[in-house]
Amino acid sequence: MNIVSSRLIAIANMVSDGENIIADIGSDHAYLAIYLAKSAKVKKIFATELNDGPYEITKTNIRNFGVAHIVEAIKADGLKWIEDKKISISSVIIAGMGTTTILKILENDSKFIDCFILSPNTDAFKIRKWVKNKKYFIEDEKLILDNEIIYELIKVNKYAGKKIKNYKDLFFGPILRKTSKDNRLFTQKWILEEEKYTKLLTTIPNDNLNFKKYTKLKKIIGKYINKELKYGKAK
Ligand SMILES: C[S@@+](CC[C@H](N)C(=O)[O-])C[C@H]1O[C@@H](n2cnc3c(N)ncnc32)[C@H](O)[C@@H]1O
Repeated sequence: MNIVSSRLIAIANMVSDGENIIADIGSDHAYLAIYLAKSAKVKKIFATELNDGPYEITKTNIRNFGVAHIVEAIKADGLKWIEDKKISISSVIIAGMGTTTILKILENDSKFIDCFILSPNTDAFKIRKWVKNKKYFIEDEKLILDNEIIYELIKVNKYAGKKIKNYKDLFFGPILRKTSKDNRLFTQKWILEEEKYTKLLTTIPNDNLNFKKYTKLKKIIGKYINKELKYGKAK
């Protein structure tokens, strides 16, 4: 099956063996749900969509790929349908959206959900901040290069995993930063981020509201790259 990108395959790989019921929020084309159904990893997948167009495509693809016995299309906003269904969901996937949209969806977190697999297009920092505030754990973290973009994938578990203890965990990820010495994508990502802020700072005046913020971010990243990555001392 080549309907799925390496990013979607990496997300699917975050679903653990033995997880039975999954929900993919904002399924768009339902490719992730179809891939999970075909790889026989799970027994039931809810592929949900807010918007009419993608919802119709989701339903058509589920039918055309012959996975209607496993994948059920749901038209709903975020997680709002889960309390009514009263079914325990082992992992809810929310991927390919901006952090603001993901955080808005997470406002309807439910006791019926055990884990989240989150892949924001931007700003994973704010996602980890949400995890910390909720006193949840990070079960797994991955970086994946797809179409020249490095994506962060975060599996959040409500009951077990790594705690987010400090700002380094928030920024760089408690699991990712432990593997950073052997992870070239990690180094590449943070060098690119440092470059991004260096460039941004040359384009805005010192009294711009964002100047202080970008200077601080550049400093945090630069310090981490120089002190911890360079000498392999990430702690
Ligand atoms: C860019 S696509 C990402 C598709 C897929 N999840 C991926 O990672 O490739 C985002 C999809 O989320 C849907 N969406 C946005 N907000 C949503 C919400 N609150 N609830 C359900 N779906 C939503 C959009 O209609 C769109 O199809």
